[in-house]
Amino acid sequence: MERTLDVRKPMTTKPTRPSPQPRDSEQAGERPWTVRSVLQWTTDFFAQHDLESARLDAEVLLAHVLEQDRLALYLHYEDTVPGSALQAYKRLIRRRVNREPIAYITGMREFYSISFAVEPPVLIPRPETEHLVEYVLEHVKENTGSTGRGAFSILEIGTGSGNLCIALAKHLPQAQIVSVDVSFSAISVARKNLRGHPDCSERIRLVQGDLLDGLHPERARFHLIVSNPPYVPTESWDDLAPEVREYEPRVALDGGHRGTEILHRILSNAARFLLPDGALVVEIGEDQAEAMADVAEETGHYRRSRVLEDYAGKPRVFVAVK
Ligand SMILES: C[S@@+](CC[C@H](N)C(=O)[O-])C[C@H]1O[C@@H](n2cnc3c(N)ncnc32)[C@H](O)[C@@H]1O
Repeated sequence: MERTLDVRKPMTTKPTRPSPQPRDSEQAGERPWTVRSVLQWTTDFFAQHDLESARLDAEVLLAHVLEQDRLALYLHYEDTVPGSALQAYKRLIRRRVNREPIAYITGMREFYSISFAVEPPVLIPRPETEHLVEYVLEHVKENTGSTGRGAFSILEIGTGSGNLCIALAKHLPQAQIVSVDVSFSAISVARKNLRGHPDCSERIRLVQGDLLDGLHPERARFHLIVSNPPYVPTESWDDLAPEVREYEPRVALDGGHRGTEILHRILSNAARFLLPDGALVVEIGEDQAEAMADVAEETGHYRRSRVLEDYAGKPRVFVAVK
C-alpha cells in the first residue's frame, strides 16, 4: 500500500493542488520512514506542487531539521528519521508548498561562500550579486597598486542582510565601509550578521537613511560607491515568482517605473560623494544598461562608463567613473 506523510494541516493558504490522502503508515505499524523514503516522498510531493527544485528543497529542509549537511543525508540514507524530526519536517514541508522561500525557512543563505542570517522582511542574497563582489575586488586591486593593500573607502547603498558589505570587508582588510539602508529591519539583520564577523565590525558603519540624503560630502567622500538597488519595474511585479512577490520586501526590489527610478537617483547624486577618479558600481536589470549610460552622460559628472556582463553574457553591472 502506498505510504504518505500527513502534511495537510494547518495550511495558511491553499496549495496549488490538493494534498494526497493521508495514511499514517508508521502508526499503522508499517516499516519506518528512512532518509531515503522521506526524501523520495517529499520530492514527489513538491513536484506535484510545481516546485522546480523539488529534490534539492527536500534535501535542504531535511538536513536542516536533522542539523546536518546534505552530504550526511547520503551517508545515513537507510537510517530511520526520528519521530520528532519528522513532525518538524512536516511543518517545513507545509511552509514550502505555500511558496515560502527556502532561505526564510532555514533562516540562512550562503553568499560568496559566507553564511548569512536572513529573515523577512530582508532580501535574500542572490548569486548574481556575487559578480558585483568580484568586480569590486578586481577594481580595488587595480587601483591600489600591486599589493592591493592601500587604504580604500567604500559607500554601499542598500545594505540588506549585510551580505555585500561584509563579503567586501572580509576580502579587503584595508577597506573602511559605510553602508546605508532605508529599512530598519535590514539594518538590524545586517547588525546581527556583522556580530558574526568581528574582523569586520570595526570597519563597517551601518546607517539608516534614504539613499544619500543623510550623508554629507564635505565630511566623507569615497573611493567607491557600490549598490545593488531595487531595479524591478513596477509593471513586472505581478510576473515575479510567488516566493518573491509574496514573501520578499517590495522596498528591496521595486525600482519604480521601468525599474530605473532608484538607479536614476543614485547616478544623479553619487558623484558628489566620490573622490576624484572614484567609481560608482551598480547592479542593473539586463535591459537597463542603455538607460544608465544616458543618465550618466546627462549628469555630466562622470568621465566614462562601462557595462559588465555576467557569465550568461547579460549586461548586469554598470560602472561610472568620476
Ligand atoms: C536588492 S536589495 C540589496 C541587498 C543586499 N545589498 C544585496 O546585494 O543582496 C536593495 C536594498 O536597498 C534598500 N533600499 C531601497 N530603497 C532604498 C532607499 N531609498 N535608500 C536606502 N536603501 C534603500 C532596501 O531596503 C534593500 O535592503
